[in-house]
Amino acid sequence: MNRKDTSYLTACPADIVAAADLLRAGQLVAFPTETVYGLGGDARNNDAVAGIYTAKGRPSFNPLIAHVPNTEAAKRHVVWTDEADRLAQAFWPGPLTLVLPLKPDHGISPLVTAGLDTLAVRVPAHDTARALLAEFDGPVAAPSANPSGRISPTTAAHVRAGLDGRIAAVLDDGPCGVGLESTIVGLAGTPTLLRPGGLSAEMIEACLGQPIDIYKQGDALSAPGQLQSHYAPESSVRLNVEAPVGDEVVLGFGNVPCDLNLSAAGDLTEAAANLFSALHQLDSTGRPIAVSPIPEKGLGLAINDRLRRAAAPRGA
Ligand code: TXA
Ligand code: MG
Repeated sequence: MNRKDTSYLTACPADIVAAADLLRAGQLVAFPTETVYGLGGDARNNDAVAGIYTAKGRPSFNPLIAHVPNTEAAKRHVVWTDEADRLAQAFWPGPLTLVLPLKPDHGISPLVTAGLDTLAVRVPAHDTARALLAEFDGPVAAPSANPSGRISPTTAAHVRAGLDGRIAAVLDDGPCGVGLESTIVGLAGTPTLLRPGGLSAEMIEACLGQPIDIYKQGDALSAPGQLQSHYAPESSVRLNVEAPVGDEVVLGFGNVPCDLNLSAAGDLTEAAANLFSALHQLDSTGRPIAVSPIPEKGLGLAINDRLRRAAAPRGA
């Protein structure tokens, strides 16, 4: 595709207006959310949405999340349910995405849903994302702002490194607080955890008052983007490592000797916030990456999910 200059915007009001104007003109703008930076385009505009797939090199069968400013706006596009209401009241704005049946006259480009009859919707909590959504006053389709299959961006510099020249602008408002993508819950049938993320499965179960089905690779109902190899650094990644071998650089967790620690205190929330930045940083060493064991509970479920994909054979 043609390379063009990417503008750098800040979170000041004039730049938020400029970013919303670009979205209205069908251009692509990367913006911060509390989870990761998103690559935004007008979710009603086929050309804009097609541009998102092109800029990321994303397979067109992998649908996008529509970002909206509040629950009322979400209800314009999807069939609302009691479970959706409970989860939205508890966790929106926040790192939770709900997959619900599309309404007739939903107005969303079919490219957003990759032809599915459901839509993933999310109300982000980040002030700048909220200001942009309010100013734009429409649904914004936004995948993570990284080339498809690579490590997700938690800073504007990560976005620039991956997409510079391919998008109109990046809105820079510092590092993302949560650091992992939103948790995706499918509500078109039995509530199902489609992707573990920044909100723990335990919190969702406590809110629904029942255990949630967990999607497994190969299940019919899935988040189509859950390809095996994803979040991949250039370097190889080895997991659950107690002792490094050869030239490996060690990504630690807890009280262990290492080159970089996700959380010396063994705090999973801190580890989540640091994960993608740490992978970007260690990747730049050019050395193979070895990762300490991380407990499979709370946010550890999502951290281990991302690490397993980062370690998976490439091209899978
Ligand atoms: O935190 C996040 O969710 C970030 C920020 C930018 O909001 N966005 C994000 O988008 O992670 P993306 O495109 O990287 O991941 C979206 C995931 C994909 O796995 C996709 O397959 C799934 O959502 N998805 C989207 N629409 C779906 C649908 N209708 N049914 C099932 N899965 C869906
Ligand atoms: Mg992504």
